Amino acid sequence: MSSILQTLEAAFMSAFKALDLDPNFGAVRESDRPDLAPFQCNGAMAAAGALKKQGEKANPREIAQKIVAQVKDHDAIESIEIGGPGFINFAPTAATLSARAQDIAESDSLGIEQEIPKSIIVDYGGANVAKPMHVGHLRSAVIGEALKRLLRAQGHHVLGDVHMGDWGLQMGHLISELEVEQPDLPYFDVNKTEGYPDISPVDMNDLARLYPQASNAAKGDAERMERSRVATAELQSGRPGYRALLEHFINVSVAALKIGYGNLGVEFDLWKGEACVDPLIPDMIKGLRAQGITEEDDGALIIRVEEEDEKKDVPPVMLLARSGAVLYHTTDLATLVDRKKENDPDLVLYVVDQRQALHFEQVFRAAVKAGWYTSEQLYHAGFGTMNGKDGKPFKTREGGVLRLEDLIEIMNEAASKRLAESGIGADFDAEERSEIARKVGLAALKFADLQNQRLTNYIFDPERFTAFEGKTGPYLLYAVVRIKSLLRRAEEQGVAVGKINVAAPAEKQLVLALDAFGRAVAASAEKYAPHILCDHIYRVAQSFSRFYTDCHILADDVDPDVKSARLGLAALTLKQLEMGLNILGIEAPDRM
Ligand code: ARG
Repeated sequence: MSSILQTLEAAFMSAFKALDLDPNFGAVRESDRPDLAPFQCNGAMAAAGALKKQGEKANPREIAQKIVAQVKDHDAIESIEIGGPGFINFAPTAATLSARAQDIAESDSLGIEQEIPKSIIVDYGGANVAKPMHVGHLRSAVIGEALKRLLRAQGHHVLGDVHMGDWGLQMGHLISELEVEQPDLPYFDVNKTEGYPDISPVDMNDLARLYPQASNAAKGDAERMERSRVATAELQSGRPGYRALLEHFINVSVAALKIGYGNLGVEFDLWKGEACVDPLIPDMIKGLRAQGITEEDDGALIIRVEEEDEKKDVPPVMLLARSGAVLYHTTDLATLVDRKKENDPDLVLYVVDQRQALHFEQVFRAAVKAGWYTSEQLYHAGFGTMNGKDGKPFKTREGGVLRLEDLIEIMNEAASKRLAESGIGADFDAEERSEIARKVGLAALKFADLQNQRLTNYIFDPERFTAFEGKTGPYLLYAVVRIKSLLRRAEEQGVAVGKINVAAPAEKQLVLALDAFGRAVAASAEKYAPHILCDHIYRVAQSFSRFYTDCHILADDVDPDVKSARLGLAALTLKQLEMGLNILGIEAPDRM
């Protein structure tokens, strides 16, 4: 099923070909001046330029005239004009628009082109065991979830992996701190090697308390720091009591993380982490040594990854520290070994803070050097930070790290206030009102995040995010709810949803917006850029709003066929808005 743009482009391409010109000059795009015509083809100028380069005489306007002569009778073209030096501006017929809209409405993908399925792992979330989720984890979760759903919508096989941080010094801190607090626990008995209790000695609150306690204690105290280091090393070399403790820490944390991510509407297929690839490390290192790509460097084991004729220095990958400890590079490489073995992915996409760009550059180069992956199979989709009004990464008023649950609560409150001000839901019961506020708050937060280019920083502004006007999540939810309520009223009045048949300008521009969905999804996926899809959804909502203002739907004076056709268009708009929002991980209420 081709889009309107593709149909038109095919006509222009064959026209250029018929004139013995490169068919690619027939590229069609949506016009910069939609007030003149919705589409344009600027190939006549480029074709003239190419001819002149070959020393031939060429006049772009004349070429444009010849092209127009060929395409003007095409079924899909209604009006066509040449502007300026040879711009060809044109509009599709109402019949073409109606047929295309009906096609979209009848297809499951609503116009998203299905790709040859690739197997993809999206590594996102990245929460750390024992630490409560904080605002820094928000962007990875929100963007990663959107990219996962976007790629799935194109037909790819995508697995999301939370890749928890559960193997570094923070684990040693927890263990040593717990030992200080409760030295008699069986996990610390060096003579014991098995038969540890099934029930965790700590809950999430304990963990959240122990970690800062330990890292603060270690800051001023070299001996405490050393204890944490030793505990880390012993854990990594397999001390049974420590391993048993780690298992509890992980289980307790995963249970809490599932709730935390669940509250955000984020779901993972794989709950793996750094610790679970530890068993692969010895063989991995053996293999890398055998390949001759490792080097001893001042007691550490490294892989050099700098490339010749390169300006910047990329420092070596650290496989083993002098102490023999395993590092962040090592676990990420072992994770790539694990993924290769378990999933053999065509692509691994890392949705991680841009401040880790160098880390991924190093890891990717080492994985390519080892011959496990090609560089095209590994991609770091980095992102900027969410800042406070002072332009620095967002903090609480006290200067601490804001917990994710508190952030969600702030959004909830901002949304409730906004709903109360606008009188929305005044006659609903309290439970429904609070459910609506939750959805509005989350939509506001997620859309405000996703509509930015990934790499730019943005400022956390709950007031602005929750506005019902402008390019916001709540504006989009409002559009969805408005159509739902229209469809309910139509049902009550016994008006059926009919075949789409457009005539009015506002109907036509709405179909043109809906026709662009496939392109928006493709561009968004190609660049791992959810903001492109955000722009599209906003455009559809705005086009709907104009249609709703200009075209009466259920009014008594509307012809019954027109009523049904317009309802059909509204129903399609709803489906596409919902699908688009679903890809962004945004849920709308039924009414508000
Ligand atoms: N846990 C890490 C952090 O908090 C993020 C993990 C990202 N993923 C990865 N494969 N390294 O910074």
